[in-house]
Order: sequence, then structure tokens, then C-alpha cells
Amino acid sequence: MNIIFLGLPGTGKGTQAGVLAEEFNIPHIATGDIFRQAINQGTELGKKAKEYLDSGELVPDTLTNALVKERLVQPDAKKGFILDGFPRTLKQAEALDQIIDELNRSLDQVIYFSAPEEVLIKRLTGRRICSDCGTPYHTEFNPPENEEICDRCGGELIQRKDDREETVIHRLKVNREKTDELVSYYRNQGNIITIQADASLEGVKKQLKEAVAPR
Ligand code: AP5
Repeated sequence: MNIIFLGLPGTGKGTQAGVLAEEFNIPHIATGDIFRQAINQGTELGKKAKEYLDSGELVPDTLTNALVKERLVQPDAKKGFILDGFPRTLKQAEALDQIIDELNRSLDQVIYFSAPEEVLIKRLTGRRICSDCGTPYHTEFNPPENEEICDRCGGELIQRKDDREETVIHRLKVNREKTDELVSYYRNQGNIITIQADASLEGVKKQLKEAVAPR
């Protein structure tokens, strides 16, 4: 399965991608996670990306496209992938079409996570992530057993800098129009399915299972 998860910040792409990737045994490729890891490791990529992530702006297309291309040619992505948070602009979508063509692959499905923005603000400001494995939690909707420790790997839970309310509002503004453009782009390609992402965690999971079931 070669799948894209599309949607505004906080729609639950990362949460659901983690589960589905494990089930299908394919990599969950999240550009945001790759950038955050590079920042933590102090790499050249991290130095270039930090300012954009902290302020909620998008990292330039050229840098992001190159990173995705490099990741998709890795052996583990041969059996399939879930792309989470990429593409985020039309230029990225066009670059992805080209990469996929070059690899002689095709896109099976684009899943669009749709939810009202007031829900997203609540989700993002209450989110905590594991500083080691990146697993997302929510203080109210998806709490860990111990509020400071990751259930999965025991890592420390932290709040992302860009999950402060003013940056969340800015991120939604930066992404709103671009997301609508991408939805139209994939509607024209005829391979997009919309999920009501304001449902409960289980409710979203159920819709997702139906969306990716072989027809
Ligand atoms: P990225 O890390 O991709 O962040 P984002 O798009 O802002 O999306 P999120 O990961 O914040 O949201 P999500 O939909 O995954 O929600 P989650 O599952 O965590 O990007 C960060 C930055 O990196 C960007 O701002 C940009 O600078 C850069 N970047 C990344 N990709 C780029 C690209 N392609 N081009 C350029 N720049 C790029 O869920 C959110 C919260 O809600 C959690 O607390 C979760 O527990 C909770 N939750 C999830 N589902 C439910 C539910 N159904 N009910 C209740 N709570 C729920």
C-alpha cells in the first residue's frame, strides 16, 4: 500500500498512521518527525529547518522534496509507505508524482482527514509527544498511563514548541489554503477519500480501515 495522509495540523494523521503502519508493516514517513529528529541531532538539515518549525512556517519545497525522495528509495519503503504531512503544497504534490513515476510505483490512496478548526486547536494545545519515539498523546483525549512517560518506550513526554496556542493558530492559517488546493488536486486524480477526523480515536480508526480495505 502506498498511501498519503492529508489534513490540517491536529487532525490525527500521526496518531492513526502509527497504528496503520504497524498493522501493514510498512514505514510511517512523517516529514515533521524527520525534521524534529534532525533538529535534535543538530544536523545540517536540522539547522536549516529549525526556524521554520519553531515559527510554524513551512520548510522550503526544495529541501522537503529532496528529503522525501531520499527516504522513499530506502529498501523498507519498497513494500509500501504511509506519507504523513507530505505533500503540503502543490509543488510538493507534483514532485511526489515525479518521484513515484521514477520508482515505477503508483499511489493507492489519499486519505483526507477533515475536522473543524476549533477541535484542532484543542487537540494541538493539549498534545504531548514522546521525546524519544515521537508517539503523540493528549492530556484529555488520549492520556498516557503516567503523564510524564511514554507508554510505548518509557521516553519523556514533552510539549512541542509549535503547539503553543499562538503558533497553532498561525500553522492553521499557513496550511488552510494549501490543504484545500491539494484536496482539489487529488480529487482530479480520483483517488481521495475523506474521513471525518473529529470522531473519537476508535471512530476514526474504523473509517480508516474501511477506506484502505481492498475493493
Ligand atoms: P508536522 O509534525 O507534520 O505537524 P502538523 O502537520 O502540524 O501536524 P501534526 O503532526 O501536528 O498533527 P497530526 O495530524 O499528526 O495530529 P496528531 O495525530 O499528532 O509538521 C511540523 C512542522 O514541520 C510544520 O509546521 C513545518 O514547519 C514542517 N513540515 C512538516 N512537513 C512539511 C512539509 N511537507 N513541507 C514543509 N514543511 C513541513 O494528533 C494531534 C493531537 O490530537 C494528539 O494529542 C492526539 O492524541 C489527539 N488526537 C488525535 N486523534 C484524535 C481523536 N480522534 N480524538 C481525540 N483526540 C485525538
